[in-house]
Amino acid sequence: MTTLPEAAPARVDLTALADLVTPWAIRVAATLRLADHIAAGHTRLPDLARAAGAEADALRRLLRVLTGRGVFAEPEQDTYALTQAAGLLKDSGPFGLRAWFDLDGMGGRMDQAFGGLLHTVRTGEPAYPEVHGRSLWQDTLDDPELARSYADLMAAHTTFAAPEVISAHPWPETGHVIDVGGGSGSLLARLLTARPRLRGTLLDLPEAAEEGRRALAAAGLADRASVHPGSFFDPLPAGADLYLLTWVLHDWSDDEAVRILRRCAEAAREGEGAGEGRVLIVENLVTDGRRADVAAAMDLRLLVLFGGRERTPRQLDEVVVRAGLRVTGRRVTGTGIHLVSCAPAE
Ligand SMILES: C[S@@+](CC[C@H](N)C(=O)[O-])C[C@H]1O[C@@H](n2cnc3c(N)ncnc32)[C@H](O)[C@@H]1O
Repeated sequence: MTTLPEAAPARVDLTALADLVTPWAIRVAATLRLADHIAAGHTRLPDLARAAGAEADALRRLLRVLTGRGVFAEPEQDTYALTQAAGLLKDSGPFGLRAWFDLDGMGGRMDQAFGGLLHTVRTGEPAYPEVHGRSLWQDTLDDPELARSYADLMAAHTTFAAPEVISAHPWPETGHVIDVGGGSGSLLARLLTARPRLRGTLLDLPEAAEEGRRALAAAGLADRASVHPGSFFDPLPAGADLYLLTWVLHDWSDDEAVRILRRCAEAAREGEGAGEGRVLIVENLVTDGRRADVAAAMDLRLLVLFGGRERTPRQLDEVVVRAGLRVTGRRVTGTGIHLVSCAPAE
């Protein structure tokens, strides 16, 4: 299985690839919500600067870069308009892209961690704690705003992926599912809506669990969905029918992923239905069917942010086996999301 780009471009424009001006300019435009202000009619420079809380001359110079790159247009001097690309920067744009670039939120904070990439490559350690003084998870524990911002980012991603994940698996009709590291609750909410006799528990760190509780209540599921604030490195509530880990394991090193899976295996073995519980891992894996450059960029991102990694199916199988589980089934969705079913090993 290869993870190398199949066809490397014949000629690489290194200066364009290495340019940091444009990526930062896009993030500042997203943070200042320039696209929404322009869409609301603040098209003239002084008015736009006022609406965005920016200094007019600096804003003009920022927009000179971005109009040069086709991100905004300048139909007449000092008057700005949206392009197709700028439309993606509106708050209502697809995939919640603006929030991923917002330097005041968790999206921008994650990008800033790349300032520590050299530290990561020299040491093999994540850069995020080096740059921000504490781990990303500690950030979400200490700062409810950052917890909310992170949950919103995850919800945008998972809301998009959830219908596909739900239709790809034979979910139980009844019983109890624990969404381990369930975050925003968007997947669990959709699952419980699709299976009206199923019960669910969202387990996550306290601040994230609060976000999940709000989402489940807003979906009218408070009677069938409970929330368990806690860590998946500690013993999990035992005896559920299914322990679900969606986009969790890739945030962690192999040893940490084994510890999380062991907790799931123990809880699946220990409950009333002794040994009947199952574990379902949902995430993107590195396969020949996935663009190698996209997988490589995500893998490096996971290392910088958390010390995690994007795994091949074989690498995932290795951590599964080390945790005392065996793989019982695999499915892949149309967009390449892998669902790996596991049961406690004999
Ligand atoms: C990448 S997010 C995935 C969230 C959710 N499963 C989804 O697919 O949208 C990882 C989640 O793990 C949670 N998490 C991190 N450390 C944790 C811990 N020690 N115990 C429980 N949850 C944790 C985070 O708060 C976050 O919600």
